[in-house]
Amino acid sequence: MSDKIGILYSSIDGQTHKICDFIKDKLEQKKQKVGLYSIENFGSKISDYKIFVIASSIRYGVHHKKIIDFINAHKKELDATKTVFISVNLVARKPEKNTPETNPYVVKFFKTIHWKPSLVEVFAGKLDYQKYPFWDRIMIQLIMWMTKGPTDKNTKIEYTNWEKVAQLAERISKM
Ligand SMILES: Cc1cc2nc3c(=O)[nH]c(=O)nc-3n(C[C@H](O)[C@H](O)[C@H](O)COP(=O)(O)O)c2cc1C
Repeated sequence: MSDKIGILYSSIDGQTHKICDFIKDKLEQKKQKVGLYSIENFGSKISDYKIFVIASSIRYGVHHKKIIDFINAHKKELDATKTVFISVNLVARKPEKNTPETNPYVVKFFKTIHWKPSLVEVFAGKLDYQKYPFWDRIMIQLIMWMTKGPTDKNTKIEYTNWEKVAQLAERISKM
């Protein structure tokens, strides 16, 4: 039986990666062995891990296609181990939309995918307009305007609640 925890993530602007890296550090402080992989460079087997964590941010309402494809292609192996799913998005900055039961993307995701992880968590991501290509910035400004968020093009806010991320790491270490 493996004694290692695997963390697989897909991140475009780096926030999901940062969250997974933070979880890895916390788990290592608890003397756990952790392998952290981007979806682009995962080459091992899920059965090599005692717990397998999958994390993806949301872009235009959906989790990354490569993550969805990975879950669908490895459903059997995922069902045979303890698993955790993490969603990162900006809607989760709102207290009433920051749990797996109340975040619309997470709720919808589990209606469309036949996988039931042992644990699901959702974290607010980062807003950084200057990082986005022009049209993406316009679209996010529009979404923010509609959801009463900041629209100034120089806004850079990390909404991630690191205390909540630390709590998830704690829960994973006890799984
Ligand atoms: C092009 C683009 C589209 C996005 N679409 C959504 C969205 O539909 N809903 C949402 O809540 N957040 C959305 N976000 C916010 C991201 O989920 C958030 O910035 C997250 O921190 C990005 O994670 P990453 O840095 O790991 O890619 C979007 C961000 C970008 C740049």
